[in-house]
Amino acid sequence: MVLSGKTRLAGVVGWPVSHSLSPRLHGHWLERYGIDGAYVPLPVAPEDVARVLPLLPRMGFAGVNVTVPHKEAALAAVDEVTETARRIGAVNTIVARSDGSLLGDNTDGYGFRQNLAHWHPDGRPAVVVGAGGAARAVCVALLDAGVVAIRLLNRTGARAEALAADMGGGAFTVLDWNHPDDALEGAGLLVNTTALGMAGQPPLDLPLDGLPGDALVTDIVYTPLETPLLAAARARGNPAVDGLGMLLHQARPGFAAWFGRDPDVDEALRQFVLAGLAP
Ligand code: ATR
Repeated sequence: MVLSGKTRLAGVVGWPVSHSLSPRLHGHWLERYGIDGAYVPLPVAPEDVARVLPLLPRMGFAGVNVTVPHKEAALAAVDEVTETARRIGAVNTIVARSDGSLLGDNTDGYGFRQNLAHWHPDGRPAVVVGAGGAARAVCVALLDAGVVAIRLLNRTGARAEALAADMGGGAFTVLDWNHPDDALEGAGLLVNTTALGMAGQPPLDLPLDGLPGDALVTDIVYTPLETPLLAAARARGNPAVDGLGMLLHQARPGFAAWFGRDPDVDEALRQFVLAGLAP
């Protein structure tokens, strides 16, 4: 990679940020399209993030991604937020405008939806496990896709109630974590948004009995790609989609805004990013 004096700059702000796959992902696209650009990791401590973000355009940054633990702080630190970011309550993509002001967006729900491109709501409820930031992005995407009923299953019931209330309530039913007996009955989609099933974490202990055989099962975890949940779904014949595509697709709007090209998500990209996960 050879940079010039005109190199377009972007990056990812997180703490820590060394685990982030985003530099690898955007770097692959920059190489592929021969763009004079750089996408760098930006480790910024929580106490500094509110001061650092507004200064990025003054250092020439076209924008940044924001990752854990700064997504909520970024919502408050930018000049304007999109309706989507406001509804999710977090910002993961910031674009610097020509006047140096910052527009905050959230593309996690977009990434989730794009990853399920072949799935369409059919009137059946969706079951969402978890009620954290990722669940909020998933729920906004589901509502926008036309899902009319969402069952929330979260260890801390109050958090699920708060999510439902923040999103207007109507479509939501909060289930009992300790008695998920009929949770999956008649559902068309099951989504895990928790870290359960990730390497080093316990699996999501949710028997799939009762889930219709054609319901789609998906996980936002991608380490491993085949989580115990997805393996159990496939073993009983359900279609299943892993979480890596959500990561790849959520990156597209930022790349397009900063570097001027809507990038492709394809098998070559997937394999390149996967190679970055190898121990
Ligand atoms: P994220 O932004 O990735 O969603 P988060 O906001 O910390 O992260 O949310 C983590 C989610 O995973 C929550 O729904 C959390 O449940 P609680 O609200 O009860 O904390 C869930 N989660 C994490 N570890 C869990 C565990 N061991 N068992 C059950 N749920 C867990």
